[in-house]
Amino acid sequence: MTSDGLNLGGFGKIVPVLVIDDATTARPLAQALAAGGIRCAEITLRTAAAIEAIELVADVPDFLIGAGTVLTADDVDRVVDAGARFVVSPGLDDEVVSRCRHHDVTVIPGVATATEVQRAVRLGLDVLKFFPAEVMGGITTIEQLAGPFPGVRFMPSGGVTPLNVARYAQSTSVFAVSGSWMATRRLVAGGEFSQIARLSREAFELVSP
Ligand code: 3PG
Repeated sequence: MTSDGLNLGGFGKIVPVLVIDDATTARPLAQALAAGGIRCAEITLRTAAAIEAIELVADVPDFLIGAGTVLTADDVDRVVDAGARFVVSPGLDDEVVSRCRHHDVTVIPGVATATEVQRAVRLGLDVLKFFPAEVMGGITTIEQLAGPFPGVRFMPSGGVTPLNVARYAQSTSVFAVSGSWMATRRLVAGGEFSQIARLSREAFELVSP
């Protein structure tokens, strides 16, 4: 599955990682991200509210909702049923990949090493999450991996901040950047949507050419 399949080109270059404790915050949260120029997000399966939150955001206009922390084929079934249009995993799992293909949903598995990228390429994948990005060497590692794997593009996640996001976004090996800084669990739980919109706008401007 390619990044064109995900069509992030139409939905921007930033994928916020959301941890939602109360599903009623999901729609105002998506609207706050959109007010800042971000029209894409992954809702992680780290809370009991995640599936309902995906359902509530699935019909927000001009907003691409995905699911994150998807660990099993059963998780894939649940998030696709809820309306997720792409799936992100922290690692590379063959069953998750094949279940996403069964549903014809874009999958972005996580990798951190050349061995994992090689496995992913053998599975026919060319868009991958690079996780945890900063502790695995950040943009320097991505550019090293691009040598043997020129057809692969990455979405760095984990330790991406306003201080380093532009450097990632400028790389031709990066199709999107991902992180929680513009909508942390604390900001979301506190209903701080104007702050989220402000941080989203700042992020949007940092990655815009
Ligand atoms: C995650 O899986 O939590 C993401 O990679 C986000 O990481 P961050 O909180 O460091 O942005």
